Order: sequence, then structure tokens, then C-alpha cells
Amino acid sequence: MNAIIGFSELIYDEASEQGLQSIVADILKISRSGSHLLTLINEIMDISRIESGKAELSVEEIEICALLKEVAEAVEPLIQKQCNRLQFICEDNIGLIQNDYQRLRQILFNLLSNAAKFTSNGMVTIRAEALGNMIRVEVEDNGVGMSEEQLERIFEEFYQGDQSSLADSEGAGLGLAITKRLCFLLQGAIEVSSEPGKGTRFVVSFPRVVRPVFAMAN
Ligand SMILES: Nc1ncnc2c1ncn2[C@@H]1O[C@H](COP(=O)(O)OP(=O)(O)OP(=O)(O)O)[C@@H](O)[C@H]1O
Ligand SMILES: [Mg+2]
Repeated sequence: MNAIIGFSELIYDEASEQGLQSIVADILKISRSGSHLLTLINEIMDISRIESGKAELSVEEIEICALLKEVAEAVEPLIQKQCNRLQFICEDNIGLIQNDYQRLRQILFNLLSNAAKFTSNGMVTIRAEALGNMIRVEVEDNGVGMSEEQLERIFEEFYQGDQSSLADSEGAGLGLAITKRLCFLLQGAIEVSSEPGKGTRFVVSFPRVVRPVFAMAN
């Protein structure tokens, strides 16, 4: 898959230089589908790795506000796509934490991209604070919200609620299934509350200092 995406980028560059518009359009389709498929493969691999006890943590010192800022920048195109605004609040009582940067980034990216996807002309807020030895991060939106029935199922693999309101319904219903597993891997938890038509709030909490986890030997 990496070769397909890599070579389509090379062909894209050459075709653009030579002004071959029809090839440029086709090659873009190949590289977009390739990236989509790669995301899906990586998500399924992630779930299997965690399920089989083969996921390891890579613990490092993290400045949480810098991490939040990085994720907020990454999600900005999705926020703008549906004319939303992103509010960013990082309390200054947090300081440095010891955690897995990539895993935390993935959790927050998944929650923020959902908030952006299921909200239009609205507000998405991410807020981080320290509560004793725990860090609490809240991702809130004032988008379509969810019913009780939906809320009961959102952490299931491949579950997707009503996609009819979405401009583009890419996605496989794996984001939250992975997010929940990652929260447990980081010795934390995830909670959700929502009201149809009003919006949704996810709260993740994890210890300031996470214990390293090594893969189980079989
Ligand atoms: N912030 C939100 N507001 C409203 N509904 C949400 C929100 N977050 C999740 N959902 C609902 O939960 C379902 C599952 O979310 P999840 O992130 O697992 O899948 P997805 O976003 O549809 O696809 P993927 O994350 O694999 O791209 C969504 O399809 C949607 O119905
Ligand atoms: Mg998602």
C-alpha cells in the first residue's frame, strides 16, 4: 500500500509538470483511495494488536498544551470544512506528564475529528486540566448529538450512527472502538454524554505518570 501511495505521488508530480490533466485527476483518485485503505488497515491492526496484548507503550515526557496545540492544528482543516470554530483551553496547572505521545495524540485526534464531522456552523471545544494525579481532557461540540440507543453502541467496532447528515461519509466506525481501548491501555477511562440536537461531550482521563506496558509473551 505504501508503494501504491508513494508511486502515485511520483506519477502525480510528473503528470502535473507535463500538464496531463486527465492523468492527474485519475492518479489523485488512486492516492486518495490508497490513503483511505491504509488508514483502515492501520486501524484494524491497532485493534488486533491491543486485543492480543501486543501493544507496547512508549512513555516520554510530554508538555500537554503543546500536544493539544499540535492536534488542534492537525484537525483544523476538518473544523473549517463545516464552518466550525475550535476553542482551545489548556489550564496552566498541568506541567509535564509522562505518557505515550502518539497514543494520546490519536485519542484526541479521533475525538476532535468526530466533533468536527458531526457539527456544522458550531463550536468544538477542547479543554485540559489536572485533577490531582490525573489529567482530564474534555472534547465538546454543539452538533447533532446522539440518542440513548446510539450512545449504548458507539464504542462497538464498525458501529456508525445515522450518516445521512454527513457531506462525506468516509469512515468505518472504528475510531471510538480504538479510542476506548487506547484509553484503557493508558490506564485511563473515557466517558460520554450527549443530547440529540444539542451536542456531545467526551471526557478522557489518564494518570499524569503512566506505567510502561510491555507486550505479553505468548
Ligand atoms: N461528536 C459526535 N457527535 C455525534 N455523533 C457522534 C460523535 N462522535 C461519534 N458519534 C457517533 O458514533 C459513531 C461511531 O464513531 P466512530 O468514530 O467510531 O466512527 P466514525 O467516525 O463513523 O468512523 P471512523 O472513526 O472509523 O472514521 C459515529 O458514526 C457517530 O454516529
Ligand atoms: Mg470517527
